[in-house]
Amino acid sequence: MKKLRLGVNIDHVATIRNARGSNYPDPTDAAKLAFGAGADGITAHLREDRRHILEKDVARIKSEVNLPLNLEMAATIEMRKIALKYSPNAICLVPENRLELTTEGGLDVINNYNFLRDYIAPLKDVGCRISIFLAADKEQIDAALDIGATTIELHTGMYCDFHYDKNFKEKEVEFEKLKQMAKYGVVRGLEVHAGHGLTLETVGPIAGIMDIEELNIGHSLISDSIFVGIDSAIRRMREKMEEGRHDLASLR
Ligand code: PXP
Repeated sequence: MKKLRLGVNIDHVATIRNARGSNYPDPTDAAKLAFGAGADGITAHLREDRRHILEKDVARIKSEVNLPLNLEMAATIEMRKIALKYSPNAICLVPENRLELTTEGGLDVINNYNFLRDYIAPLKDVGCRISIFLAADKEQIDAALDIGATTIELHTGMYCDFHYDKNFKEKEVEFEKLKQMAKYGVVRGLEVHAGHGLTLETVGPIAGIMDIEELNIGHSLISDSIFVGIDSAIRRMREKMEEGRHDLASLR
């Protein structure tokens, strides 16, 4: 059975810091605690509007934290310069819209094919693994593979929204799509990750999709940390992931 890795997204530690323009809480300290709690990686989204993580955080996490860094970013020239400066272990390309509350959909690789193929080439040259954040869509997965991505991250946001809206019929449809497309990605030779909106309540069935190798989780983990501390929040999430991975009943 493939091990399921947990990438802890520490963006919202920075959101709280930035709300008051203070130096605390420090996302790098959070990343160090995540290491202690058994995280397999740190994920951070450097947004164009810098609403959470800043470039100095990327620099410190890369140099001070003993975990691989997965840098989420929009495919802009500015972001590529920053990525080339810090060489994160992995880059996850996401669509970005300044007015959105969070990343709303997957990247449209088909309609940006030539641009993205040329965009990722220098990043691959310096050894960054390239992941593309995608909706569960076969043609987009094919396009991601064709431009040279090694990994896809499937967007679980809709699945989680349907769960909390109690729209269980649509939730089941979305789950099947995620499961089928995870399998398809693996058959085509890609590494498959998933993330967005996952919580203690929703993570089990997604963790039960055996083709998925990594989950990236942030908002709910940092929210739970307010009440139980980051160490417990991460350990509880990990337990739910393990349960989902091993308990076939959670697939339904
Ligand atoms: N994966 C990707 C590609 C994302 O853009 C985000 C949000 O930054 C996440 C995972 C984590 O989502 P959440 O904060 O809702 O757990």
